[in-house]
Amino acid sequence: MMILPSQASFSPSNGRLSGEQVNRAVRRLKDLRGLFADEAAFLAMDPEQIVYEVHAHDACGPVEGGLFFGVSTLFPGKVGQEYFMTKGHIHERRNRGEYYWGIEGRGALVTMNERREATVAVIEPGSLHYVPGNTAHRIANTGNVPLVVGACWPADAGHDYDAIAERGFPVRIVEENGAPVVRNREDERDGR
Ligand code: F6R
Ligand code: MN
Repeated sequence: MMILPSQASFSPSNGRLSGEQVNRAVRRLKDLRGLFADEAAFLAMDPEQIVYEVHAHDACGPVEGGLFFGVSTLFPGKVGQEYFMTKGHIHERRNRGEYYWGIEGRGALVTMNERREATVAVIEPGSLHYVPGNTAHRIANTGNVPLVVGACWPADAGHDYDAIAERGFPVRIVEENGAPVVRNREDERDGR
């Protein structure tokens, strides 16, 4: 029997993921154009600022039956009153689900099903979240330290950003009186 070395190293306490098959992707503020409600506040900020990064262990490529393992680090910040968040996506292969779990910091997991019904769950160290298939998902950092979230998803899931870009999610996570609240975007349009 051959004893294999570890393929990568992962720290469950701080989420650090490294190794040969670990890829890093970075999203800057300029990549999130049009997602935040306060366009004027968005334009006044540094477009090169890093909002989040994703480290992902790719041991198999995008094959059916394979799995990817990733860690997202979403930095603290706001555009106007709205907390920094990921772009959000639905899987290209719609029926593919995903696990998320909280490692560090505090945030929100926002999901939306095909009927545009949303859920919001608090992410904190040790929280576990199953995102079913056919469900768009995004995270927001509601704290003032980096939000570190682990994820495991089918390698053939793919990411569809365009499908949700036009209408977006039905809720926003904003700060009101120093605390995070969920704002319904229908209320926003009515000026309430
Ligand atoms: C993978 C997954 C996460 C996100 C990451 C960045 O399916 O859900 O790894 O990809 O949190 O968010 P997006 O992809 O929306 O920019
Ligand atoms: Mn996903």
